[in-house]
Amino acid sequence: MPIFQDPVEIEGHLIDSGILKYAFDKIVEHQGQFEVLDFRIGRNNQETSKVRLMVRAGSPEQLERILAALEDFGAVVDWDDCQFLAAQQDNILPDDFYSTTNFDTFVKLNGEWFPVTNQKMDSVIVWEDGCATTKKISEVKAGDQVAVGRKGIRVKPQERSREYSVFDFMSNDLTAENNKSLLIAEIAKAIAQAKETGGKVALVPGPAIIHSGADRYLKEILQMGFIDVVLTGNAFAVHDIEKAMLNTSLGVNQSTGKPEEGGHRNHLWAINEINKAGGIPKAIEAGVLKSGLMYECVRQGVRYVLAGSIRDDGPLVDVVTDCVQAQKKYIAALEDVSVVLMLASTLHSIAVGNLLRGSVKTVCVDIHEATPMKLSNRGSKQAIGLVTDVSFFLSILAAELRRHQQETVGHISHLTDHASRDA
Ligand SMILES: NC(=O)c1ccc[n+]([C@@H]2O[C@H](COP(=O)([O-])OP(=O)(O)OC[C@H]3O[C@@H](n4cnc5c(N)ncnc54)[C@H](O)[C@@H]3O)[C@@H](O)[C@H]2O)c1
Repeated sequence: MPIFQDPVEIEGHLIDSGILKYAFDKIVEHQGQFEVLDFRIGRNNQETSKVRLMVRAGSPEQLERILAALEDFGAVVDWDDCQFLAAQQDNILPDDFYSTTNFDTFVKLNGEWFPVTNQKMDSVIVWEDGCATTKKISEVKAGDQVAVGRKGIRVKPQERSREYSVFDFMSNDLTAENNKSLLIAEIAKAIAQAKETGGKVALVPGPAIIHSGADRYLKEILQMGFIDVVLTGNAFAVHDIEKAMLNTSLGVNQSTGKPEEGGHRNHLWAINEINKAGGIPKAIEAGVLKSGLMYECVRQGVRYVLAGSIRDDGPLVDVVTDCVQAQKKYIAALEDVSVVLMLASTLHSIAVGNLLRGSVKTVCVDIHEATPMKLSNRGSKQAIGLVTDVSFFLSILAAELRRHQQETVGHISHLTDHASRDA
């Protein structure tokens, strides 16, 4: 059998992040062979490892397939530049387009590697204004230079962070047999840290938060200023407003827990009142809506997007009913977000999960394991799935965030006392 071979180099935290094992498996899966030419192991948890391999295959096509697959593990292959082809029409891709993952990606042009900005999965790479960026099919315009093939495109696989983070060590672990309160305390710590370092936190809430009475905890979290962005649908806003205006959620009295006579009409009444006023912000201005979570979002200046669905009643005039437009608004709102809380919504959690780069810390809470499981299958090493009642989760999270906030206030007043004594 003729042998075709090429050397490749992979550098990174190859052992503890499992990258080397996956790379070897990939070569074997494609029925190729490898020979380790050189292997330098990082001597501590900061230092990276580096391996040089000779990859062998029975045909040039097979070798190319293996090398292209190895690029998903950060392998540097001595390819030529990445190829770009112009899209011939709006929303139509060149046949051999490259489809992105949620991992950081680089393209080679004029022998130099450029990072791809705005990384998200199921998109294409477009070379625009001297840099590479991702676009969804719906964003591609005629004339856009779209990356094709796989050569000259390198993906940096997700590595474990060098310091202990609950997001690294509990990711993709859906076991019911863990101490959820301790885990939620760690999540609160990560949220507080993100905020202290200028990061943004996004929330993806479902209407079960209102039905289950967990809205009182979420209200406190919003008031403490821990949430920057809310991405959800019609139902969350409608039931929140129904509760704020009529004290029912889907017609169930929130003080007695009993369905009200004719209560099924209540959410339609709430939609009608808001739409009469011209939408949520105007209803607040007019004094029609005086409390609730949407009220807090407007009051706190939290950016929100309500995306439409075929299940919607009304919908509220604030809902973006064109789903392509709604997706664009979600993408814009998620820019610079470093932590995302996905709470009791399958539709919006998965929609948001598909728009995030793999390095964004995500927490998905659902009473059934299907949604957290689907989100962890995105391959992120930064996704925690919690199978539990959202009310339990939010009650502990609010208490932990309150504790963090009190500690921060205590710390600042301690420093101020010292400063005034020194003066
Ligand atoms: N009347 C309306 O307008 C209306 C009503 C319902 C849904 N919708 C729309 O339909 C779309 C999908 O709705 P969705 O996000 O509610 O439904 P979804 O089916 O996408 O997700 C609901 C999730 O909540 C979980 N859940 C339920 N109770 C829970 C609890 N106590 N703790 C933790 N998890 C719990 C479920 O397991 C499920 O995964 C949205 O766009 C929504 O706005 C509209």
